[in-house]
Amino acid sequence: MAGPTEIGLIFTLLLSWSFCATPEKKVCQGANNKLALLGTVDDHYQILVKMYSNCTVVLENLEITYMTEKHDLSFLRSIQEVGGYVLIGINSAPSIPLENLRIIRGHSLYDDKFALAVLSNSNSSIGQGMNQLPLTSLTEILKGGIKFTGNNHLCNMETIQWTDILNMKSQPKNEIQNFTSQRQCKKCDPSCHNGSCWGPGPQNCQTMTKVICAEQCSGRCKGPKPIDCCNEHCAAGCTGPKPTDCLACKDFQDEGTCKDACPRLMLYDPNTHQLAPNPDGKYSFGATCIKICPHNYVVTDHGACVRTCSPGTYEVDEGGVRKCKKCDGLCPKVCNGLGMGPLTNVLSINASNIDSFENCTKISGGVTILPTTFRGDQHTKTPVLDPVKLNVFRTVKEITGYLVIQQWPESMSSLSAFENLEVIRGRTKQQGAFSFAVTQTKITHLGLRSLREISDGDVVIGHNQHLCYTSHDHWKRLFKSEHQSVRVTANANATTCANRNSTCDEMCTADGCWGPGPTMCFVCKHYSRKKHCVASCNLLAGEPREYEVNKTCAECDPECLLMNDTQTCTGPMMAAHQSLKCFLSH
Ligand SMILES: *[C@@H]1O[C@H](CO)[C@@H](O)[C@H](O)[C@H]1NC(C)=O
Ligand SMILES: *[C@@H]1O[C@H](CO)[C@@H](O)[C@H](O)[C@H]1NC(C)=O
Ligand SMILES: *[C@@H]1O[C@H](CO)[C@@H](O)[C@H](O)[C@H]1NC(C)=O
Ligand SMILES: *[C@@H]1O[C@H](CO)[C@@H](O)[C@H](O)[C@H]1NC(C)=O
Ligand SMILES: *[C@@H]1O[C@H](CO)[C@@H](O)[C@H](O)[C@H]1NC(C)=O
Ligand SMILES: *[C@@H]1O[C@H](CO)[C@@H](O)[C@H](O)[C@H]1NC(C)=O
Ligand SMILES: *[C@@H]1O[C@H](CO)[C@@H](O)[C@H](O)[C@H]1NC(C)=O
Repeated sequence: MAGPTEIGLIFTLLLSWSFCATPEKKVCQGANNKLALLGTVDDHYQILVKMYSNCTVVLENLEITYMTEKHDLSFLRSIQEVGGYVLIGINSAPSIPLENLRIIRGHSLYDDKFALAVLSNSNSSIGQGMNQLPLTSLTEILKGGIKFTGNNHLCNMETIQWTDILNMKSQPKNEIQNFTSQRQCKKCDPSCHNGSCWGPGPQNCQTMTKVICAEQCSGRCKGPKPIDCCNEHCAAGCTGPKPTDCLACKDFQDEGTCKDACPRLMLYDPNTHQLAPNPDGKYSFGATCIKICPHNYVVTDHGACVRTCSPGTYEVDEGGVRKCKKCDGLCPKVCNGLGMGPLTNVLSINASNIDSFENCTKISGGVTILPTTFRGDQHTKTPVLDPVKLNVFRTVKEITGYLVIQQWPESMSSLSAFENLEVIRGRTKQQGAFSFAVTQTKITHLGLRSLREISDGDVVIGHNQHLCYTSHDHWKRLFKSEHQSVRVTANANATTCANRNSTCDEMCTADGCWGPGPTMCFVCKHYSRKKHCVASCNLLAGEPREYEVNKTCAECDPECLLMNDTQTCTGPMMAAHQSLKCFLSH
């Protein structure tokens, strides 16, 4: 177990980094530790100093916790913008100086509700606590509500007019516990608008930028007259009417101008029907538009710089840029097979290890299925395997070692659990020779309709008394090395197969097939559509309309205008030299 101090050090290493997005603004990541104490109170303080010093923009959450009166908190003065929530909790320091904080965006909320949570900032055992929270620049909370509880010493907060700050359209939920009357508080300065202030003196009056605005204003203003209205893209307030005069931007800031979106990375060229890179395109990074994502960030489909790709996408390198790409089906996941990692000395798949193959697309190592797989083994306390569990292998596309099957459930007529397997690499082999073997099963057909390569090692298909569709020649086409051989013996004989009508579908070429039906052909005679062999594509009739590419039917882009008597499209929408009638619908 790591001690609290070590945990603190780990957090320091993880969270202390930051960088400059624009020369004058230092952006830092922020935290998500909630009320956890990182090490001792002094470790905790040092971590916060490292994390937020000189920081103007906090991308995620600003969490100020466990600060006491002996700590110098001036490092918080640089902070102007927070992307997530602000948590101020368990502090006994008399004041938390966040005078320059203008905007809390609330992209993530404390307890899913609060953009500003001020919790338990008083210590009854020493009779001390935070008595001032001078958020004198805070004029905007874009999403979420506020929560104040357990702040027995905190003054003036009850005078704040939160409707000027909160975004009522986001339906904020607020929880404000009554402030006790025992406090000795100084009153707001008489000059404060409507008696609202963060502390005594005229410098602590609440600045109103919404409730005082003229009717003509669409959002914020700098005064009550119609000419005082801010630009619609401003948040927090402004110094003038232009989108360059905002105190903060509602959506994005691009070289000092507030906009609703960053300049797009690709633009549609109506002459060539192509998307072309926009030389002025920018990525969005928090609420800022930038030319290049900071180091260690990846780019999403939408051109945003993020730290990790979202579920359903995976990271790839494209021309030196790290990007998030949509996964084709399941995201790639490599798992250890037999002979590798924790399965180094394990001889077969069994009930104790089959769950480790969930969602795997690639198995590094081998897969062996033996009679013990289904029987279980008392010696190693291995239970009986439910045959249905074999379906875990349906996600597997590649096995780097071997696939050896010496028993298969009688309830399954083919090796359908491996129907998506595309490649057996044979880098490791069973008994040093075999990369694929199926023996002594009761299957009627192999059903390995996606298998297109066995890179190395020999193949044995033997003593499967009901097995038809075993073409000797086909295996050679899957081989990639001259030294590979195949032995097909003692399966169902030709007479038996003919009597059973075990012939390939008429949509298959004479090359053969993996089993019955139009989904099992080695090669389609005419065209293929999503693993089915078909006679023709929907060129002129049928929906969705299609075009042909490499003997495959592909759907027309939904933007294409449906045509009769002539082809609706001849290629993917954005491909070069798109011809025929294909219009943007907008
Ligand atoms: C903050 O900025 C000041 C002045 O630019 C510099 O001296 C100081 O080292 C910086 N502190 C940190 C922790 O980056
Ligand atoms: C209150 O202060 C005392 C003395 O400094 C400290 O030991 C105790 O942990 C504090 N309690 C809380 C809840 O912060
Ligand atoms: C807060 O104060 C109001 C008015 O003084 C009172 O009606 C209410 O019950 C109090 N709530 C709590 C939780 O003490
Ligand atoms: C002044 O404050 C009161 C109560 O806090 C509120 O009802 C009223 O609308 C405010 N007036 C203005 C002009 O903001
Ligand atoms: C079953 O799998 C477990 C976990 O991988 C292994 O420890 C055990 O030896 C295996 N039993 C047999 C009979 O293969
Ligand atoms: C497998 O994928 C499904 C669907 O994406 C997901 O719900 C499940 O948690 C995953 N299981 C594991 C062990 O990764
Ligand atoms: C084919 O197999 C069947 C059943 O196993 C058997 O009766 C028959 O004699 C075999 N025919 C030939 C030509 O081997």
